[in-house]
Amino acid sequence: MQLYSNPASPYARKVRVSALELGLAGRIELLEVTQSPVNPHRELRAHNPLGKIPALMTDTGETLYDSPVICEYLDALAGGDRLFPPPGPARWTALRRQALADGMADAVVLVRYEQIARPASLLWQDWIEGQFLKVRTALDALEKEDLGGPLDIGTISVACALGYLDLRFPDERWRETHSRLAAWYAAACERPSLAATQPG
Ligand code: BEZ
Repeated sequence: MQLYSNPASPYARKVRVSALELGLAGRIELLEVTQSPVNPHRELRAHNPLGKIPALMTDTGETLYDSPVICEYLDALAGGDRLFPPPGPARWTALRRQALADGMADAVVLVRYEQIARPASLLWQDWIEGQFLKVRTALDALEKEDLGGPLDIGTISVACALGYLDLRFPDERWRETHSRLAAWYAAACERPSLAATQPG
């Protein structure tokens, strides 16, 4: 299999962490691409019409996107019910956390693009603040959760979103106001799958 990826992408990292946790990383060749909405990648777009990473080309010739679909595919390939619990309360919690963490990462990525791609004269500070408000309310919600236990797709997504926030906005100092989340994240980062995929 081949994975269109980028070392900074929190979504591609979710796939790489999942593959490592599932023992499938050795079957995936990473194709590193640099792209953005204002700098699209022609070859990637031929496989994913949205031109987004991650996109996984499977051994049967299909291309899967985006990270929730790819991660669930890998889980099934590894026998199922490993990172995606079977239908029931644990599954809905894991999927909700994935949605919350991916949404938080989306907000951080949008601010990042705004700051690196948009001409300075067109910057819209209220819009940037609106994205950061999403990040802060997501952090507040995660602070109240018990994230302990084996990694699943929900907690993998949370760790990757926090890693991306640290990468692009290291001055955010979220740990000072979210000590429980910070303690969980520090322990999670010891996992070989997360340690091996640190962005930056
Ligand atoms: C980044 O460089 O910040 C980035 C790269 C790929 C996807 C998302 C973000």
